[in-house]
Amino acid sequence: TASALASGPMSGKHVIVTSGPTHEPIDPVRYIANRSSGAQGTAIARALAALGADVTFITGPADVPAPEGVRVVAVTTAREMADAVDAALPAQAAVFAAAVADWRVTSASDRKIKKTAGGLPVLEFAENTDILARVSQMTEGRPALVVGFAAETDDVIANATAKRARKMCDWIVANDVSPETGIMGGGENAVTIISENGADSWPRMDKTQVAQRLAQLMSDALA
Ligand code: CTP
Ligand code: CA
Repeated sequence: TASALASGPMSGKHVIVTSGPTHEPIDPVRYIANRSSGAQGTAIARALAALGADVTFITGPADVPAPEGVRVVAVTTAREMADAVDAALPAQAAVFAAAVADWRVTSASDRKIKKTAGGLPVLEFAENTDILARVSQMTEGRPALVVGFAAETDDVIANATAKRARKMCDWIVANDVSPETGIMGGGENAVTIISENGADSWPRMDKTQVAQRLAQLMSDALA
């Protein structure tokens, strides 16, 4: 259970944070994943807890350990993550930092797929529910502040601005994850906060500092 601080600017506020990748099984030994380490989402959950928030931290199979002082819900697939978010609601705010798999394998096998002479496996996919969009568009009980992420390799601000409008979240934390930035899997991040007020680009800094600044911004917005 969470050890919410009795005091702090966010005490009494429930915040849901999703983090890490999801894994989508192909068969019992194989899965589709992505390069999210969970570092940024973990740092955000820790920073929110440090401000006194009651944090439900819903994490896929991440490289980094979950923070202390939060309620940890460990999931594997995008579907499990969506169910965990539903179960955790209501909340005053939600931060969707997870790199959710866009597709699940509908042709997944219960048994290990074996090589066959001359044959290649064919995978079939279905699109996963967009958790961020669904929560942003709730007509009843929507969190007052919904924050999404947009990891892009091209036209970062334009893509993230369009994503914010399409999903109807309040803020998008946009970043450039092109391989040459070294951000994916690294300790630093360079983000732009997209809100109704436009785009605010922060200098490149430690993921911990990005998290603290974002948590403070959220705290101010909810005050
Ligand atoms: N997201 C989510 N559920 C999904 C997919 C994405 O909640 N099934 C959230 C992510 O956690 C992130 C935001 O949506 O906060 C943007 O994710 P991103 O992958 O950048 O957006 P997509 O709409 O999936 O677009 P793209 O085609 O660029 O992957
Ligand atoms: Ca996606």
